[in-house]
Amino acid sequence: MNYHIVTYGCQMNVHESEKIAGILREKGYDTETPPEEADIIVFNTCCIRENAENHAFGNIGALKKLKKKRKDLIIAVGGCMAQEAGKAQLLREKFPFIDIVFGTHNLPRLGEFIDRKRAQKKAVVEVSEAREETEDHIAPVRTSYPNAWVNIMYGCNNFCTYCIVPYVRGRERSRRAEDILSEVRALVAEGYKEITLLGQNVNSYNNDGGGGMSFPELLDAVASVEGKFRVRFMTSHPKDFTEELAKVMAKHEKICRLLHLPVQSGSNRILSLMNRRYTREKYLSEIEMLRRYLPECEVTTDIIVGFPSETEEEFEETVRLVKEVKFASAFTFVYSRRTGTKAAEMPDQISEEVQKERIMRLVETVNAQTRELSAKYVGRTVEILCEDFDEKKGLYLGRDEFGRMGYFASDRNRIGEFVDLRIVRANGISLFGEEIKTQG
Ligand code: 5AD
Ligand code: SF4
Repeated sequence: MNYHIVTYGCQMNVHESEKIAGILREKGYDTETPPEEADIIVFNTCCIRENAENHAFGNIGALKKLKKKRKDLIIAVGGCMAQEAGKAQLLREKFPFIDIVFGTHNLPRLGEFIDRKRAQKKAVVEVSEAREETEDHIAPVRTSYPNAWVNIMYGCNNFCTYCIVPYVRGRERSRRAEDILSEVRALVAEGYKEITLLGQNVNSYNNDGGGGMSFPELLDAVASVEGKFRVRFMTSHPKDFTEELAKVMAKHEKICRLLHLPVQSGSNRILSLMNRRYTREKYLSEIEMLRRYLPECEVTTDIIVGFPSETEEEFEETVRLVKEVKFASAFTFVYSRRTGTKAAEMPDQISEEVQKERIMRLVETVNAQTRELSAKYVGRTVEILCEDFDEKKGLYLGRDEFGRMGYFASDRNRIGEFVDLRIVRANGISLFGEEIKTQG
């Protein structure tokens, strides 16, 4: 039997879809195919911004015809949007042909819901208030070789006022360090060359006591596992980025010299309204501290523009901060009003027109910096981890430790290999190089 999974949103969801695939395999769905040939289609949704939701609504709606033709096809909708208050019902009303709706907390029981749906005509709707059981025992079907995603914790306690994540993913729960370490050891032994540790806020790992060690200690232990592989982690919160973490990063070559540290805004008044619990000055001093330990380290970030009541001057403070830090790249977002969050109730919501104009200016600034930084790579040698073949370009591609994409030609499959490239051309965030062949 065949399956098809549609994933929206972040790396956390990408990895969760790998777990969904693991559950589907157990239920006898052994081949991933396009939707037309699938016996089950699962939507793993995201609700962080309105456009992610609209996207999913559009794609689910488009299945109406297929479902009419193929009555035995099972359509399941899960993930963050399904967990949102009132959304399960809305989904069922809008799309009565959906067979299963399951919340983020119910993912571990998807197999059971499939069994129930096979046995009954009625739709199965399961959205719980809190996690019923962990998902750690699910063997994922990994799709991102040579990278492997590893959850270190679930949920978030921060309640940034714009963000819906704490409402749909619940409170922080840390996995036991020894379980994480055995997963990492097994992955490295299997041949994975990059381990990315995942958490909504990795710096608060073990705040709930569930880990058994702090995040810097865990990172140290992961990077001490024998073998040639890279270690990445995301996401860090500036309110508790520590010197101890910078020291561990500096201690191990395996840990990529890249820190993703979302700043969100350069204005102290907006940061306070966002409940971020750090100031512009604290953020800048952390970057300075990081660069003291790791001068070559690059920093990427997330920025939201058009948060309620953001003035032109406050927006310009963000642009100035971008220039000051010289981010290697940045994910820039227009503020999206999420029902149920504190910011949704704040006065002075910014007009779409102003938001659009601001994001365009910000994107221009970020892109100019990215281009400038990439141009410096021409003539340098970088080590990339080959991860794919680009059919259109006819070139292999991979990433350097800073996350820059490097393209090169080869007459044999190089996926999963570390390759040294001499960069001959840079285009935005992409680098083009020639392989340096080692002797012998
Ligand atoms: N509107 C816009 N961007 C948001 N993010 C989170 N919530 C919202 C929202 N309501 C962004 C933040 C976060 C990233 C994952 O998504 O920048 O770091
Ligand atoms: Fe959302 Fe803030 Fe938690 Fe990140 S740290 S998931 S932005 S509440």
